[in-house]
Amino acid sequence: MRKSVHGQWSSRWAFVLAATGSAVGLGNIWKFPYITGEYGGGAFVLVYLLCVIGIGVPIMMSEILLGRRGRQSPVNAMYTLALEAGRSPWWQIIGWLGVVAGFLILSYYSVIAGWALAYVFRTGSGMFGGATADGVQNIFAALVADPERLIAWHTLFMAMTVVVVARGVSGLEGAVRYLMPGLFILLLLMVGYAMNTGEFGRGLSFMFRPDFHALFHQVDAAGNEYFTWEGVLAAMGQAFFTLSLGMGAIMAYGSYLPAHASIARTTLTIAGADTLVAILAGMAIFPLVFANGLQPAAGAGLIFQTLPLAFGHMPGGDFFGAAFFILLVFAAWTSAISIIEPAVAWLVENRGLKRTQAALACGALAWALGLLTVFSFNIWKDFTPLSGLELFRDSTLFDLLDFLTSNIMLPVGGLLIALFAGWMMRREASRDELDLGEGAAYRGWRILVRYLTPAAVLIVLLNLLGILKV
Ligand code: TRP
Repeated sequence: MRKSVHGQWSSRWAFVLAATGSAVGLGNIWKFPYITGEYGGGAFVLVYLLCVIGIGVPIMMSEILLGRRGRQSPVNAMYTLALEAGRSPWWQIIGWLGVVAGFLILSYYSVIAGWALAYVFRTGSGMFGGATADGVQNIFAALVADPERLIAWHTLFMAMTVVVVARGVSGLEGAVRYLMPGLFILLLLMVGYAMNTGEFGRGLSFMFRPDFHALFHQVDAAGNEYFTWEGVLAAMGQAFFTLSLGMGAIMAYGSYLPAHASIARTTLTIAGADTLVAILAGMAIFPLVFANGLQPAAGAGLIFQTLPLAFGHMPGGDFFGAAFFILLVFAAWTSAISIIEPAVAWLVENRGLKRTQAALACGALAWALGLLTVFSFNIWKDFTPLSGLELFRDSTLFDLLDFLTSNIMLPVGGLLIALFAGWMMRREASRDELDLGEGAAYRGWRILVRYLTPAAVLIVLLNLLGILKV
């Protein structure tokens, strides 16, 4: 067996911090509110929560156990584990799928994180003092309309990511330990502010009262409503995205986990913290949406068009606003690092590159791909290459990349991971690695990864074919 070239986390806590740093990011604060708004609120949130519990938790346990047992980058870990179990080396396709998904995800992730960077300066300089809803929307529109500015911020964020990846992932324990609680406290403050806007009740009922009609129906170009599973697929995709699952990021981190740390407890801690942050972000944002006559379905700009309104009107808003966006950038930073880790680890192990070289090469490729997203908001805003399909009628390149990665690649990767852990590995191997004994917890996990999780993912994915009507 190949010897691991990795170090190890100093403790279980170090791993929890790093994995939480990976999980908590733009997915919670930017994406969760905006797609919840697009798919009509409560029912979407309910399906998302069910996916976190029934699909996310068992798959996260599987990824950590595969990573720890394989002790290498996902590509090599899957290869070793497949041989160990007497299975086809083709299972390393899980690792390759993850490497490709990582490039695609990081490419747009960095552009959006660039928006957050830009907003540090916009809030900090008092640009939003006394702002109106129109004013805030115009400021956002002006930013995304300017490809040069977007490229500048995207470049800065990618450079930040490359620097940390080059030094090795264990450097970020400190950032997560101190900055995550800071983000959490600021979110609580924002929720507190939202409580006093007068529309808190409406925001809460939008998020927590399930409206299944809104989840299962869309309107076509002719204005007719039709039934669709698109929202359910998006909720499942969001569960994968927000927990960093399905592409080997958590597997790569798991390869550094000390042997006797409990995988089950670790998973519940990470998934719990991640979910809490997303729910708080929603509770901070939707009351503001309704109080200011904005649209919950405003799209990818939602948080940038709502939070600054709050910062523009609260005492000390410039300070809190800048602090909030700084912490959001840190959260995105600790996530971005994990997105590219499978590719970097593979280059180091198999191509003999130094981490610095590997990080630079991966960053350069993801940066170039990121231009597709940059242009999706301005010069290629009307370029909708798949508009022949109703599902993608208005989808820009950015929308398509997001759909392809979150809603297809991550669920397919997750499905393969569950099948491998549930059916391909020897029972004793997974039992020893999870270290739960033979009790109900182990048997519950095994039933989930063998039957329920794959079935759920498959059913939702197969309905994609139904969604693809022209
Ligand atoms: N989970 C992170 C977020 O919510 C993003 C992320 C990090 C990710 N690593 C990933 C998404 C791996 C998919 C796969 O912002």
